[in-house]
Amino acid sequence: MNQEYWEARYQSADMPWEKGAASPGLVDFLAAHPELPRGTICVPGCGTGHDVREFAKAGFETFGFDIAPGGIRLAREKTRAAGLTATFQPADFLRDQPPQKFDWLFEHTLFCAIQPDERDEYARAVLRWLKPGGNFLAVNYFDCGPDGPPWPTTRVEQLERFSPHFDLLADWTPRSYPNREGRERMFWWRRKAV
Ligand SMILES: C[S@@+](CC[C@H](N)C(=O)[O-])C[C@H]1O[C@@H](n2cnc3c(N)ncnc32)[C@H](O)[C@@H]1O
Repeated sequence: MNQEYWEARYQSADMPWEKGAASPGLVDFLAAHPELPRGTICVPGCGTGHDVREFAKAGFETFGFDIAPGGIRLAREKTRAAGLTATFQPADFLRDQPPQKFDWLFEHTLFCAIQPDERDEYARAVLRWLKPGGNFLAVNYFDCGPDGPPWPTTRVEQLERFSPHFDLLADWTPRSYPNREGRERMFWWRRKAV
């Protein structure tokens, strides 16, 4: 799906993924881990920025990126209205060079939104945007589709794609939005320090 496709979804307000709140799994993760070192966090495919603002509230230096300018505009407006600070920039996560490398990268409904044949590119992009030793936290959609987006993934696929470059610290079934209960899984990876 290209930039025109996603921008048209924002222009026509056709955004069923927009739940008006951060991922419940992320909210719980941040509440459970106040001890984690804060640093820079990149949220690719950030949409209107709920997850970015959740990291900002928790004290991270936050950056949201999205291929759709309409999403970035809404994210900036909502963040200003909330009195929070975050940087939002239009970017194609799969193809662009990052403006910097990040300590953390948070995935939430981008992996399932890209074409399944772009998943190799996605894995390469995570390595391009995240520092060695950095944390990769993901909320993956297991039970969706088949006529995406969204397209589902499995635990086996996640382990195959990311284990070569990451140590898996934990994975679990998170609390989810009401219509996704039991259909998501979170993965907390640490990138191997080369
Ligand atoms: C299903 S929406 C999820 C938005 C947000 N993560 C959320 O959960 O509310 C997928 C988002 O990814 C963005 N997107 C799709 N392909 C992208 C790419 N290659 N680079 C950056 N963003 C992309 C879309 O514009 C859209 O905002």
